[in-house]
Amino acid sequence: MSTIESVLNETRIFPPSDEFSSQANVSSFQAYQALCAEAEQDYQHFWAKRAKERILWHKPFTQILDDRNAPFYKWFADGELNVSYNCLDRHLATQADKVAIIFESDDGEVIRSTYRDLHQRVCQLANALKARNIKKGDRVVIYMPMRIEAVVAMQACARIGAIHSVVFGGFSAKSLHERIHDAGAVAIITADEQVRGGKHHPLKATVDEAMRMSDTTSVQSIVVYQRTGGEIPFNPPRDVWWHEITQNAGSECEPEWVDAEHPLFTLYTSGSTGKPKGVQHSSAGYLLGAIVSMQWIFDYKPTDIFWCTADVGWITGHSYVTYGPLAMGATQVIFEGIPTYPHAGRFWEIIQKHQVTTFYTAPTAIRSLIKLGGDLPAQYDLSSLRLLGSVGEPINPEAWMWFYEKVGRSRCPIVDTWWQTETGCHMIAPTPGAVALKPGSCTFPLPGIFAAIVDEAGHEVENGKGGFLVIKKPFPSQIRTLWGDPERFKKAYFPEDTGHGKYYLAGDSAYRDKDGYFWIMGRIDDVLNVSGHRLGTMEIESALVAHPLVAEAAVVGKPHEIKGEAVIAFVVLKGKYPHGEEVARITDTLRDWVAKEIGPIAKPDEIRFGENLPKTRSGKIMRRLLRTLAKGEEITQDISTLENPAILEQLKYPSK
Ligand code: WTA
Repeated sequence: MSTIESVLNETRIFPPSDEFSSQANVSSFQAYQALCAEAEQDYQHFWAKRAKERILWHKPFTQILDDRNAPFYKWFADGELNVSYNCLDRHLATQADKVAIIFESDDGEVIRSTYRDLHQRVCQLANALKARNIKKGDRVVIYMPMRIEAVVAMQACARIGAIHSVVFGGFSAKSLHERIHDAGAVAIITADEQVRGGKHHPLKATVDEAMRMSDTTSVQSIVVYQRTGGEIPFNPPRDVWWHEITQNAGSECEPEWVDAEHPLFTLYTSGSTGKPKGVQHSSAGYLLGAIVSMQWIFDYKPTDIFWCTADVGWITGHSYVTYGPLAMGATQVIFEGIPTYPHAGRFWEIIQKHQVTTFYTAPTAIRSLIKLGGDLPAQYDLSSLRLLGSVGEPINPEAWMWFYEKVGRSRCPIVDTWWQTETGCHMIAPTPGAVALKPGSCTFPLPGIFAAIVDEAGHEVENGKGGFLVIKKPFPSQIRTLWGDPERFKKAYFPEDTGHGKYYLAGDSAYRDKDGYFWIMGRIDDVLNVSGHRLGTMEIESALVAHPLVAEAAVVGKPHEIKGEAVIAFVVLKGKYPHGEEVARITDTLRDWVAKEIGPIAKPDEIRFGENLPKTRSGKIMRRLLRTLAKGEEITQDISTLENPAILEQLKYPSK
């Protein structure tokens, strides 16, 4: 409830300036409404028109939406295309020498790659992959540092019709193993090491560790990009060097034409069970979503220098680094490092140096930069900026105001974009030349996206009331299925109760204010949002319980100033309740263990030990009580169903 009340008090409103609107792709609220009305009238033709105009088809489609096997929707199914062709080849005739990527390494080295150069690199790697017998439909896991080569690897897969599955470089060997195994990958593309904040982190050694855990023999090739030249395990003929296999590879590679519905990629994300979900996206529908959101929400112009700070390990890096900007023929910045190295002004320095016009980042980064140097932006010339963006979690109004005033100098609209791994592109976000902004609200749905808020029975609630966020009609960029688990897909996103199995259930709660603006309140499932990263509480619990010392664990979130949410674990040990020094020692051990099991992002911020957990008589852990305890608040909820009330006292404070 506190979330609702605090944001409801937000009354500031920021209409777009005439200067911005007059140049915008959607230049007035009427223009936005006209697009919505067009979609309202016939949403299928609305999307078909744009798919025809904006995608280069090898074979044009004649079918639009096929919903015979709903919710396994198909869009433009009889059309053929290649996504890499749409991102690279299409620009060669008109702007081959335009810089596609301005890359800045961790230590400040700058490399520019033109569309001609990028096309050549992609073709060479694609040819080299084909020579290793990697074919259309094969799965390729990509575990790479944030460099041009990560984009090249993804595009090369798309070019030959292989399905990539990028795993964030911060994930552990165990997480990597699970994903390789679930995807049945035939190849892995990785690097020797990655460099962030001046530190080297192993990648290839982690891949090898994951391979040793593997009970699968599917992986035939491991392609290694040499980033640092560090010492690594290397096992030919399975392992090959990127530079060696691409050296003599042809610089032209005929794209593999695929059906519109051919899976472009899978990307694993957290859900409410311990097992990550392989979200599967299509080729054409996904590409269309990336393109229209670049136009409507990022108001893309050919003169822009676009910078999305997300890693390609997340959906944001897929849609707004690898696919969206390249499909538009944009010039974009890719940065290998972290915002605070070698100093807390690094982001502002990069914006100044490369004349960035569009800057898209996450609230957690904004909050940490406020803390580390709230006045630092003033020391840089940020006059190139014209648009700012935020993604990953709700942005609190204070952080919004700082971003708006200190970074955007009160000139640049902020697009607060609500969307998910599953939606492929922005769903609810302001068209910045058209919509007046309210700090903390993602405003209105994109044209063609029928977002609504419903109650438990699937009925729409009135403005001002909270409920489940759903999308009522299918849209081209939506998730097609969960890799290898269609039943889980149906159950997770199209449950029978909310929306009668017809609406896409996002997993967030939200409400609309009196003006119809959408405000996201948070997840309705057991998913935490830590620094903009999705983490399943069940995943962390499973990791903890896998440790020999642990009997039982329950994980909840607690509001955190910088990260949005912090991970709090309540743990029952197999042995005695720990005291004194033991507490710190076991806490460290378990934190490191979770980092190894999942990745450092999942480390609990705090661990509290108990002789038991609060449970109902039927043995169900009462997580809502743990959430209250984690926040340090008094329990006011009904505890009559609690079997062991005395345990609350023990779990109230950090263990000593
Ligand atoms: C949250 C990231 C509020 C939300 C693109 C969603 C947001 C989950 C916003 C998806 C936003 C994302 N305002 N909450 N602008 N953007 N979220 O799959 O809870 O990593 O369900 O996709 O992040 O996270 P994911």
